Amino acid sequence: MPDRDKSHTKRQDVFFRVLTPTAAGAGVFLLLGAATPLGVIASAFAGLAAGSALALYFAANLHASIEDTEKELHGLIDVNLSETIYEKNKLETILRYMTDGTVAVDTGGRIIHANKAARKILRMTDDDVRRKRYDDIILRFTDSLTLGAIISDLADGKVAGSFSYGGASFDVSFGIFKNSSGDEGGVIIIFRDVTESRKVQDMQVDFVANVSHELKTPLTSIKGYAETLLEGGIDDPAMTQEALGIINSEVDRMKRIVNDLLQLSRLDTKRQVWNMKPADIVALVRMAAKKQGVTAGNKRQQLNFISRDKSFILTIDRDRIEQVVTNIISNAVKYTREGGRIDVEIVRDEANVYIIVIDNGIGISELELSRIFERFYTGNKARSGDMSGTGLGLPISKQIVEEHRGSIDIQSGLGYGTRVVITLPIEGAGPDDSGEI
Ligand SMILES: Nc1ncnc2c1ncn2[C@@H]1O[C@H](COP(=O)(O)OP(=O)(O)OP(=O)(O)O)[C@@H](O)[C@H]1O
Ligand SMILES: [Mg+2]
Repeated sequence: MPDRDKSHTKRQDVFFRVLTPTAAGAGVFLLLGAATPLGVIASAFAGLAAGSALALYFAANLHASIEDTEKELHGLIDVNLSETIYEKNKLETILRYMTDGTVAVDTGGRIIHANKAARKILRMTDDDVRRKRYDDIILRFTDSLTLGAIISDLADGKVAGSFSYGGASFDVSFGIFKNSSGDEGGVIIIFRDVTESRKVQDMQVDFVANVSHELKTPLTSIKGYAETLLEGGIDDPAMTQEALGIINSEVDRMKRIVNDLLQLSRLDTKRQVWNMKPADIVALVRMAAKKQGVTAGNKRQQLNFISRDKSFILTIDRDRIEQVVTNIISNAVKYTREGGRIDVEIVRDEANVYIIVIDNGIGISELELSRIFERFYTGNKARSGDMSGTGLGLPISKQIVEEHRGSIDIQSGLGYGTRVVITLPIEGAGPDDSGEI
């Protein structure tokens, strides 16, 4: 038992010996109050005030109790101080690692605290934080979030705002904090970078608009020809033939778009079933080039196939890789003028197989190049004219190749031509020169 508790027990014994029956009720009350040093002091004063005989006991113990109290207070202060330091450190660490920018501004507009993220978002130097007022900083970006604007927003019950600069968007929330006396100490302003989620939102909106547009065009055409037939065109065999031909090809186009969309959705949701098997990649590329040779021939284009290997076995999903190679070669044929040239080459090193498709066609500008893997992006319509398709070929191809842990790289010069490299990792697959092609 600690010393202090022992001395309490001793004092309580004496107390019971001097306790008179009439003082018993008050004694019990005082005893309960005297269980702590502060209680002893309080009880002594209470006893003195009441002129009680008990006061003698408490007065005798007063000195010891003051010492005990002092020790206890010191202990309490130490505990409180270390708790405060702990809380402060915890808060600083949270603020430091928070990805949201946090700024505390006092009622006079001085910056009391700005975490690392806030310094980055608001492009503040240490000197700015020390010397500049919050308004000087925020006015570089917007005038809707000055301290005055925030305070008036808060008065109207508004606790959030937003601002953008240089392609970045931020959601801002704010609130008042109290100082130690319970008065308004200033405002805390939190800046959240929402650039990426905004982009995804915008893309979703664009996607729906694009799908609707792509399906609406063939539907309008089908409707037009169906009406023509209904309004008597059906009696004209030539007209009927033409209308049905167009309706048929428009339905094919819609079917292609819907199939592409379903495939993208399967790829996105990882529901695509992969049929990975050893396959001859050289034969696959040669066959894809040959199939496109018909269209190239119609455009009087020269389509060459170049490979040092007669055959090379890779573990791939044959149909999906054929889809990719066909899309890349058909793009080369589509976006190259009559009489142009397309080279389809397959080479390899120890790590990868490279399928390289080079054309001397219309090319892609630098700006377009950064967007051609976006869904529905079809480049400059004026240049590619009727040739452009739905803009789903490259995004689908990219996802298929990435599922094979490969990549697609495109280089292009506007007016000069395009070079597409499909890289597929070999990973244990080896050359197989035995098979005839
Ligand atoms: N070899 C190329 N030369 C010039 N432009 C190209 C070439 N390949 C692709 N492009 C540009 O990139 C765009 C996107 O190509 P992508 O294959 O995704 O779509 P698409 O060919 O328009 O339609 P889809 O393939 O869905 O029928 C094309 O519309 C075209 O502007
Ligand atoms: Mg295409």
